Amino acid sequence: MKTVDVDPGNTAYSILIDADSLSGFGEFVKERFGKIDGAVITDETVDRLYGGELADSLEAAGHDCGKLVVEPGEESKSPEAAKNLYRDLVHMELHRDSFILAFGGGVVGDLAGFVGSTFLRGIPVIQIPTTLLAQVDSSVGGKTAVDLPEGKNLVGTFYQPEAVFIDPVVLETLDPADVRSGLGEVLKYGLIWDEELFQKVNGNGDLFEDFNDQAELEGIISRCCEIKAEIVTEDERDRGIRQILNFGHTIGHGIEAGAGYGEMKHGEAVLWGMIGESWISARRGYLSQESLEEIVSALRGFALPPLPADLSEERLLKYVKLDKKVRRERINSVLLERIGGEAIVKEISESEVTAAWDYLTELGEG
Ligand SMILES: NC(=O)c1ccc[n+]([C@@H]2O[C@H](COP(=O)([O-])OP(=O)(O)OC[C@H]3O[C@@H](n4cnc5c(N)ncnc54)[C@H](O)[C@@H]3O)[C@@H](O)[C@H]2O)c1
Ligand SMILES: [Zn+2]
Repeated sequence: MKTVDVDPGNTAYSILIDADSLSGFGEFVKERFGKIDGAVITDETVDRLYGGELADSLEAAGHDCGKLVVEPGEESKSPEAAKNLYRDLVHMELHRDSFILAFGGGVVGDLAGFVGSTFLRGIPVIQIPTTLLAQVDSSVGGKTAVDLPEGKNLVGTFYQPEAVFIDPVVLETLDPADVRSGLGEVLKYGLIWDEELFQKVNGNGDLFEDFNDQAELEGIISRCCEIKAEIVTEDERDRGIRQILNFGHTIGHGIEAGAGYGEMKHGEAVLWGMIGESWISARRGYLSQESLEEIVSALRGFALPPLPADLSEERLLKYVKLDKKVRRERINSVLLERIGGEAIVKEISESEVTAAWDYLTELGEG
């Protein structure tokens, strides 16, 4: 069992990482918050796999929680879904001391977090992330959001949960693509912050196929949470150092959006994006050729999915720029000086993006 404490100002909370702990969730909550009432918000897949175990554990500890289930997938991260949840919460008679338990991947975490942060002007939220991406990334840091047809995450809040409760054993049932997607973010932390983490994950591919070394998994997940917590604590509102968490995301977002959302998982696109941005780092002379090769071979070793077949250079560039335009940013990108550190935010040119894309498509063919 591991604990990571997060303290961004006046809203300290802990992240608990404990293998095989889901059945003890009810007791965990009782110890910290007493008997609670509230609503579990989850999706159909997670509910089918683990909903019974969570409900039993809540009931055994004497909590009084209803359940609201959304369809799996990004479409559920919508204002319409949020509105339906608000109305259900009213009918369930939730009040200001009731809890929202966000039980699922990043979609449920963002949606339920958003709903919890706005319902009755904000009620307590506990995150119980069940995908690798959610356990190492989206459940930590307090960003919540829903999407608009015009773009992802355009409406949201900064809202810290009361606690984050992680059971890595549930990762066993993830699709391989969702495992890779989470690994994209895990490797990102290694590359921008911690070479030892990068090497550990790199040499340990089997762990993310059979998930049988629970101590090792707890160690890797808690290290990622620690890194994210450290970075967001310094910069809760995303104005400065937090931007280094976007390593791989300038080109990655271009690939993800250019291919059409849903074609490629977010973290998979980020894996490709990190290769592209490492390549730009090396071309500018920040990163050694040797380190670039090490990064490329490591990331390709995690069975990178093929690049989207009909994604053209023009389309990629269009989406790279679109993503930035909404935020009134130039094409900023995070560049690396070495594996494990000195990540720096720099403006990159369109021609660097397209040259990196040429490099990626060649790699993809080779
Ligand atoms: N708030 C943040 O800081 C932040 C950071 C990164 C990503 N995000 C958001 O996270 C979302 C992506 O999250 P995601 O990748 O977890 O996607 P997701 O929530 O859609 O989960 C992926 C799939 O896995 C299923 N699933 C979840 N847990 C499972 C389990 N234990 N076993 C089997 N199947 C399981 C889900 O039902 C879903 O079909 C995006 O909307 C993204 O914008 C938010
Ligand atoms: Zn990401």
